[in-house]
Amino acid sequence: MALKRGHYDVKNLRLAKEGKRRILWADHDMPVLAAVRERFAKAKPLAGRRMSACLHVTAETANLCRTLAAGGADLVLCASNPLSTQDDVAASLVADFGIRTYAIKGEDPRTTYYRHLEAACRHRPSVTMDDGADLVNALHGKLAAFAGDLVGSMEETTTGVIRLRAMAAAGVLKFPVIAVNDAATKHLFDNRYGTGQSTIDGIIRATDLLLAGKTVVVAGYGDCGRGVSGRAHGAGANVVITEVDPIRALEAAMDGFRVMPMRQAAKIGDLFITVTGDIHVIDDEHFVLMKDGAIVCNSGHFDCELNLPALAKRARKVRCGVRGGVDEYVLAGGKRIFVLAQGRLVNLACAEGHPASVMDMSFATQALTTEYVLGNAGKLSNTVHAVPAEVEDWVATRKLASMGMRIDALTAEQSKYLHSFEMGT
Ligand code: ADE
Repeated sequence: MALKRGHYDVKNLRLAKEGKRRILWADHDMPVLAAVRERFAKAKPLAGRRMSACLHVTAETANLCRTLAAGGADLVLCASNPLSTQDDVAASLVADFGIRTYAIKGEDPRTTYYRHLEAACRHRPSVTMDDGADLVNALHGKLAAFAGDLVGSMEETTTGVIRLRAMAAAGVLKFPVIAVNDAATKHLFDNRYGTGQSTIDGIIRATDLLLAGKTVVVAGYGDCGRGVSGRAHGAGANVVITEVDPIRALEAAMDGFRVMPMRQAAKIGDLFITVTGDIHVIDDEHFVLMKDGAIVCNSGHFDCELNLPALAKRARKVRCGVRGGVDEYVLAGGKRIFVLAQGRLVNLACAEGHPASVMDMSFATQALTTEYVLGNAGKLSNTVHAVPAEVEDWVATRKLASMGMRIDALTAEQSKYLHSFEMGT
């Protein structure tokens, strides 16, 4: 199983023992993915197919990689974020599971990150799996020469799906993409409960902040924002929502949260969390309004939600690492603003990302969709497609069963009622 040097780039292979323990621990909470792995190991539906994945390199991702490898895939994995890699997991993937992995926590975002992405492209994949569409982007741009064998791709994030839909609308998408993010078995659980819990976890690990009684401003009330605000409220915070979408803003108001523009919220927040997928949601004009000691972080995919270059320009002094993952910006007059994880995903950079139990559904959906894409090579158009309903049903049914829950089935009479218009009301 030993991989040749040059076929991986991880921090230190000696970390593998701890990484393996964490991978196997996560596996206990991933029964649906384990069931897929068991079937894949027998049926080998991905036999000999080259696959490249650009994902957060976590214990949960390692279990997805084990599943794809069990199905016969020849897999290369690279990091989808310079700060989210768990180095012990990356080491174990190489040393214990023979998965070619290119990921180091803290890798240079301008050089090493792209070198690792390039290694994944050079694998000449038949299918790719992305968390933020960086691989697909590279395979449409500078590294297009390695896209010749591609039959399709899967995308894990809201941000990535938005990018890919824009590419499809512009007619430039060169292969079919499946929006795994949009599957109910993914976004209803991963985005809400996963981001909700892990974001609060990351903030607490980084700062040891007591949330009770604090004013927490959550920018964005999509699935992720709903999850984060619900968890902050549950911990006793006074939650304020900022939004640009009137329907979502109304929903937040009727869920019991105060809704206001960021200019107003900036003056009262103790903690700010962005989860919008958009750029400069907290901008220069907002930083100047904040209280001394305000804490600011992001849990959206890219690090552009906070305008940190503007904050750095305004700051008289920046003290990096005043605590692990915390940078202090001192403004004129001595006001301090604390930024977590350099504005990158706080849940993955300061904690361990979404818990395994929720990634179980996301990654079982990913694995089964990979099989679907390969099984339908040449049949899907070059646009963004939905995950097949059978995949979603199977994952949801298995997850319920793994939680010891059963549900009712429609009686023949009920089914007839739902499918007819003649029966009375
Ligand atoms: N995205 C968010 N949490 C994650 C996790 N635990 N593993 C992989 N990708 C993630």
